[in-house]
Amino acid sequence: MVFSEGLNWLQNTCVSPASLSTRPPTVAVLGATGAVGRELILLLEQRDFPSDSLKLLASPRSAGTRFTFRGESLTVEAVSEEALAGVDLVLASAGGSISRQWAPVMGAHGTLLIDNSSAFRLEPRVPLVVPEVNLAAASRHQGVIANPNCTTILLLLALAPLRRLAPLRRVVVSTYQSASGAGAQAMAELETTSRDVLQGRQPRSHVLPYPLAFNLFLHNSPLAGNGYCEEELKMLRESRKILAQPDLRLSATCVRVPVLRAHAEAVNIEFEAPVSVDAARRVLGEAPGVRIIDDWPNNRFPMPSDVTGKDPVAVGRIRQDLSNSNGLELWLCGDQIRKGAALNAVQIAEAVVRHGWLKPLSPRQPDQDAPVLQS
Ligand SMILES: NC(=O)c1ccc[n+]([C@@H]2O[C@H](COP(=O)([O-])OP(=O)(O)OC[C@H]3O[C@@H](n4cnc5c(N)ncnc54)[C@H](OP(=O)(O)O)[C@@H]3O)[C@@H](O)[C@H]2O)c1
Repeated sequence: MVFSEGLNWLQNTCVSPASLSTRPPTVAVLGATGAVGRELILLLEQRDFPSDSLKLLASPRSAGTRFTFRGESLTVEAVSEEALAGVDLVLASAGGSISRQWAPVMGAHGTLLIDNSSAFRLEPRVPLVVPEVNLAAASRHQGVIANPNCTTILLLLALAPLRRLAPLRRVVVSTYQSASGAGAQAMAELETTSRDVLQGRQPRSHVLPYPLAFNLFLHNSPLAGNGYCEEELKMLRESRKILAQPDLRLSATCVRVPVLRAHAEAVNIEFEAPVSVDAARRVLGEAPGVRIIDDWPNNRFPMPSDVTGKDPVAVGRIRQDLSNSNGLELWLCGDQIRKGAALNAVQIAEAVVRHGWLKPLSPRQPDQDAPVLQS
């Protein structure tokens, strides 16, 4: 099936949001038992998301698992057409094939899907949203809003404010990606293989392609014919779409490192004109979702442990590129389960509810030009 043909189920009917304005939405987390799913449940509770009820969905393997939400014990159900009936909003983190499988059912029910997988990200009719950068795009959804790749979200929280100082010409980025980026089982495998190495046993991997303990390897997503892997190409293509800059030049090298949770990125940015370190630090210091850790006297810059379980992306070591008068170098760290996935999705959901965008807007309504997220 040609990819775009698979989107014929996108909602064509325009429903007034008025019917929903009188009650909070019913919400489901699809992939509730996974690394991102568990964080979604946590965030919905921590941020007091205005939901009428919450359903937890996963595969039949984990049906019956129980989670506590707002003091109530909820049971995970196997995803099914029946389980999805009556749900207004699905936050999905069960992988691309599962999203592709169930999105048409959600479309038929008029359910909005906010999807963490890569299934629909580059589809022109699907908004790809980082709320601090392009929230208004979410208002134009037709039943699906895509959450970008985690490394892309973290990168764009820094790039978007900086490009207000001068247009971006080229970005070269190297990522240091934690085990959690590959899911809950990869985190468990890093713990097991670390114990194996420390106790003198031969570490064996089943989830990741190689043992990650005391090791690192290039990202294991499939290689394209041009020498880049899929993860690296996602950073290029998704950044272009979110920034609405189709000519952006970006080259990425993605590496898996033996960190449990939170990714880091070394970023070289070439602008169309010189940008001073002071101006960059000022703009980033004011940027929503960004925290500066730039303690030069103590040689103390962002680390994964600074951002684990935290919302903001930490940026530091902002410096002039000695090889390029239009260039800056910086280093950033972000919890990619949180801001790189679950938090970003929940922020989109919050905005959707706040602005009455749960159902596709009628073409007769003027497009709501919402501001980007400010806090
Ligand atoms: N981890 C990250 O940092 C990150 C960041 C951005 C985006 N994402 C994306 O988010 C998605 C989930 O990632 P993750 O790291 O949370 O993975 P994970 O820890 O492996 O969790 C996968 C989830 O999907 C469920 N699932 C698997 N097969 C299913 C099926 N046939 N039907 C229904 N549910 C099924 C699993 O349920 P069971 O317990 O029943 O198997 C589990 O809840 C992926 O698309 C990933 O690319 C992840």
